[in-house]
Amino acid sequence: MRKPFIAGNWKMHTTISDAINLANGIKRELVDFNKADILLCPPFTALSSVSEVIMDTNIKLGAQNIAWEKEGAYTGEISSIMLKDCGCKFAIIGHSERRKYFGESDETVNRRIKAALLGGLTPIVCVGETLEERESDLTIKVITGQLEGGVGNLSEEEAKKIIIAYEPVWAIGTGKTAAPHQAQEIHEFIRGWISDKISSECARLLRILYGGSVKPANIRELMKEEDIDGGLVGGASLKVESFVEIVKNSI
Ligand code: 13P
Repeated sequence: MRKPFIAGNWKMHTTISDAINLANGIKRELVDFNKADILLCPPFTALSSVSEVIMDTNIKLGAQNIAWEKEGAYTGEISSIMLKDCGCKFAIIGHSERRKYFGESDETVNRRIKAALLGGLTPIVCVGETLEERESDLTIKVITGQLEGGVGNLSEEEAKKIIIAYEPVWAIGTGKTAAPHQAQEIHEFIRGWISDKISSECARLLRILYGGSVKPANIRELMKEEDIDGGLVGGASLKVESFVEIVKNSI
């Protein structure tokens, strides 16, 4: 059995004090909850403060990106060493917003994944198709390319340490969730791909999260699907009540 995993991606929201309040609220409600893994991914500026709030709890901390080098002349980048220093154990990599607005490619995604693994952080690798790609029947082709380029060269040992998030771009921030069977179809494909390319053992262990308008009202149905192991939550992770309800409804 794969343990449910719910991650909140706060994106470019929250000042340090907002982040502390949000993390405190979540901690108050979920401090004794251990039936799902819970992850908070605040902006870089709030990592240290949120880390202090959730210290000594089962709630974990993640970053929204990671540099592919350990240090050096890379203005604006944040390395695995710095992230670990802030208390991070996870890093979201290849989010569609980074692909769309910041030139993230499968090659840079791959480099960031390698850096995260080398630095002892768990990469949460995002894949997903746009509406145009879905409507042109290109979903499987796009996901295959992202998997091939992003994780295709990982060893079995490396691949066992990653998490994959399927986030159809058309469902992000739009209120349009993929129907559970639509998401399941892609999750099943991803698990099958990992089984073929890496190993069946790795595929069996791999947690695949769904992201895109996850809410308290739809997480239960999504989690009923065989290959959906959790959620990567954007908007609904910015309110204590909705995030807590999503976590509680995920088991
Ligand atoms: P929403 O939950 O706001 O649709 O965002 C999903 C997402 O992009 C999480 O990474």
